[in-house]
Amino acid sequence: MRRMGCHGYCVLIVVLHVVALVRVSPALLQTATSDFSRDDFPPPPRFVFGAGSSAYQVEGAAFEDGRTPSIWDTFAHSGRYGDKNGDIACDMYHKYKEDVQLMVDTGLEAYRFSISWPRVIPNGRGPVNPKGVHYYSSLINELLSHGIQPHVTLFHYDIPQALEDEYGGWVSRKIVKDFTTFADVCFREFGDRVSHWTTMNEANVFVLGGYDKGVFPPGRCSSPFGSNCAGGNSTTEPYIATHNILLAHASAVRLYKEKYQAKQHGLIGLDILTYGLVPLTNSTEDEKAAERAHDFFHGWFLNPLVFGDYPESMKRNVGSRLPSFTPLQSKLVKGSCDFFGLNHYRTMYIKDDPGSLNMNQRDYLGDMGAQMLSKQGILPTGEFPIDPAGLQIVLENFKEVYGNPPVIIYENGQMTFHNASLDATLNDTSRVEYLEAFMGGLLQAMRNESNVKGYFVWSFMDLFELFAGPRSTFGLYYVDFDNPDLKRYARFSAHWYSSFLKGRRINQYLWHY
Ligand code: NOJ
Repeated sequence: MRRMGCHGYCVLIVVLHVVALVRVSPALLQTATSDFSRDDFPPPPRFVFGAGSSAYQVEGAAFEDGRTPSIWDTFAHSGRYGDKNGDIACDMYHKYKEDVQLMVDTGLEAYRFSISWPRVIPNGRGPVNPKGVHYYSSLINELLSHGIQPHVTLFHYDIPQALEDEYGGWVSRKIVKDFTTFADVCFREFGDRVSHWTTMNEANVFVLGGYDKGVFPPGRCSSPFGSNCAGGNSTTEPYIATHNILLAHASAVRLYKEKYQAKQHGLIGLDILTYGLVPLTNSTEDEKAAERAHDFFHGWFLNPLVFGDYPESMKRNVGSRLPSFTPLQSKLVKGSCDFFGLNHYRTMYIKDDPGSLNMNQRDYLGDMGAQMLSKQGILPTGEFPIDPAGLQIVLENFKEVYGNPPVIIYENGQMTFHNASLDATLNDTSRVEYLEAFMGGLLQAMRNESNVKGYFVWSFMDLFELFAGPRSTFGLYYVDFDNPDLKRYARFSAHWYSSFLKGRRINQYLWHY
């Protein structure tokens, strides 16, 4: 067993949750489902299969038609990805029609994307950019004209840099009003055609990567918890940013529910990253540590959203550094999600770390009093280990602890590195193996009555990856970033997913596809 290093999701890791963890029966974890078809899942729109992306990662056109930089542009241009950045990315801003055609060819039932706030309201607040509105309106129309359901995220690591400069972005309460105004513009302009809104993508990882370790935008941290950050305070800012994110989410939801939902008939939720959290040993200490890890990583957001307050273990361990909800805030936040978006990639093993609570100066991990370990780490090939039982554990906990609210798996997929040869890049059997295992695990969880409404592969095509720029990839479609036209190629996984979506049974025979 080796300790997780700071690569990929480890970074967060460093990040991570507790309400009593539900003990999952071995029967549940049997992935009995390596033989299934689209017909085993409910039909659309009750359940949709899709794939996803986000604005900064695919659009490019960073300086066109009035768009201004987001915190992700600034982060990328600070050398965090070497000489790479998302200025051009996949150029989807110009190629969206071709890309929607690829989605049609693949048979996608839904597509998840995000709206770039600085493209729609370039200064963060104030005048709306008609060209930005036109782009998203056209994309939505293109999807709908082919029967593909749009699932839209409002914040995916990319608030306007103007607001970061003016008042520090998410660490200021001022963002609640500006985010609500941005959401209002989006609901007004696009809401008649959008069935599912997500206010925040992977909110828990954003605050940990962005304000504790400083490895994601806006790259804030303090020593010794993170290094090379221009400013920040790892012991307080993740908690402050989270509080403001929850309040901004709740405010946007209230607006949606009061002004739009009755006529637009959409649903609105918030998305977090989930890990299957498993005690490293069966000692009582590790079992309790796993409960704390659940509280800190998932409950930090889910408890306020479902019960109206942070988990007790967080209040106890974080103390006065954890903001508290006024009764009115608690009422607004509680019950504000029609559904939860869950990103899921892997399982983490939790080891008690009692010593960390004795440190005077603690960040999130220290407050958690636990270490998050990956039994296999990232495989030498750059891939995630394949462990669908982790997803089943997460869904079982959602059912037992949070009352089985509707959830959508918004991200699940296998990471690979770009290979030297085109053949090797396209022949992504490990991605197919990963998707098959997780879709089988999902079906098993649904047979155990988990309330899942959709599954989205991350990502539809290779994109400007959060961790490593364009080096690591998740795409069903390979994008040749060295080709001036950014040519797209279907990988084996694209053919495989397409066959499944078009009704072919998934079993060992499909390996001979
Ligand atoms: C997390 C983020 O939502 C997305 O932007 C990123 O590319 C994937 N998961 C993979 O790291």
